[in-house]
Formats: sequence, C-alpha cells, structure tokens
Amino acid sequence: MRTLIFAAGLTIAALPALAGDHRVAPVRDALVQKECGQCHMTFQPGLLPAASWERMMDKLADHYGDNAAVSAEKGAAIRAYLTANAGRDRRGGTPSRITEARWFTHEHDFPAPVWKRPEVVTKSNCPACHQGAEQGLYDDD
Ligand code: HEC
Ligand code: HEC
Repeated sequence: MRTLIFAAGLTIAALPALAGDHRVAPVRDALVQKECGQCHMTFQPGLLPAASWERMMDKLADHYGDNAAVSAEKGAAIRAYLTANAGRDRRGGTPSRITEARWFTHEHDFPAPVWKRPEVVTKSNCPACHQGAEQGLYDDD
C-alpha cells in the first residue's frame, strides 16, 4: 500500500504494526467462503447492510454482469449468514456495492490514476491495498 500511495503522490502516516485488530469480522462460514470467494475475495457481510445483501441474493444470476447463481438451498444458507452478520445502515441507504457506500467513497477519495494501476484494476480489489482484507483487517495505514 505504501508504494502504491507514494506512487500516486499522496502522503500517508507511518505504517503502524498490524495490531491484529479486526475492524470487520472475518467470514467464518465455509459455504460462503467457497461460493462467494471464487471470483473475488470473500467480502465480509459487515461491509454492507442487510437490505443490500437481500437485494444481491435476489438476483445472483445477474451479478454485476456475471452469473453467480447457486442452488436454492445454498442461496438460502448464504443469505441467512450475510444478513445475520450484516453491517448497519449508517444512514447510507442500501448501496448496491461496498465501493458505492458513502463511508467507502469518503475513505477512498483517491485520484483516478490510483484505481487504474495494474495491481489494483478495480475498486473492489481490496487486497491490492489492504494486505489483511481477507481477515477483515483494513486499518493498516
Ligand atoms: C462468477 C463470479 C462471481 C461469483 C461466484 C460471485 N461474484 Fe461477487 N462479483 C463478481 C463480479 C465480476 C463483481 C464486480 C467486480 C467489480 O466491478 O470490481 C462482483 C462484485 C461483488 C460485490 C460488490 C463489490 C464492490 O464493488 O463493492 C459484492 C459485495 C459481491 N460481489 C458479493 C458476492 C457474494 C456475496 C457472492 C456469493 C453469493 C459472490 N459475490 C459471488 C463476480 C462474482
Ligand atoms: C487503491 C487502494 C485501496 C483499495 C483498492 C481499497 N482501499 Fe480501503 N483504504 C485505502 C487507504 C489508503 C485507506 C486509508 C484512507 C485514509 O486514511 O484516509 C483505506 C481505508 C479503508 C477503511 C477505513 C480503515 C480505518 O482504519 O478506518 C476501510 C474499512 C477500507 N479501506 C475498506 C476497503 C474495502 C472493503 C475495500 C474493497 C472493497 C478497499 N478498502 C479497497 C486504500 C484502498
């Protein structure tokens, strides 16, 4: 991350040692890890409010241009896990993406070239900048 941000011409405070402080509870459900971790990291349910997960689970066959459909049985189990562990609304409504949530755009107000860097490519590539993303660690800066 340091290299990335320096290259973008931004300044950041010195990198503190990772305290192992879980900002977002990591995914502990094997089914969710398997079905929702194939194409991107397994996003933690706490990153979106329950209503956002509900809407996403309603149309998995049309998932950001991909077909992420699962059986009805698996879908119900995944939906239950995501909504039970969802984040709060934070007055941000029900964003369709984590990267469109208000807290996200606020924390990630970077110049456009940062997002186009080959190691980043897309905003949803959290692990490109947050080494501990899969473990729910995002306070590494
Ligand atoms: C077949 C591949 C595939 C599978 C399987 C899949 N996804 Fe995705 N997902 C995508 C793609 C492609 C995007 C869009 C990524 C982007 O635009 O950067 C995406 C985006 C997302 C986003 C929004 C990321 C952002 O930009 O904030 C969330 C949340 C998400 N997926 C959750 C899930 C969940 C939950 C599951 C399991 C039920 C799942 N995905 C399974 C392909 C998949
Ligand atoms: C291009 C690099 C980059 C990407 C990609 C990125 N982040 Fe970040 N993120 C940062 C930086 C840098 C900060 C610190 C911003 C600040 O301190 O003002 C940050 C801050 C955060 C914070 C706040 C941490 C705190 O201590 O308050 C969270 C939560 C977060 N990111 C989650 C995510 C998630 C989830 C994703 C993927 C959906 C993501 N980030 C993608 C660079 C990135």
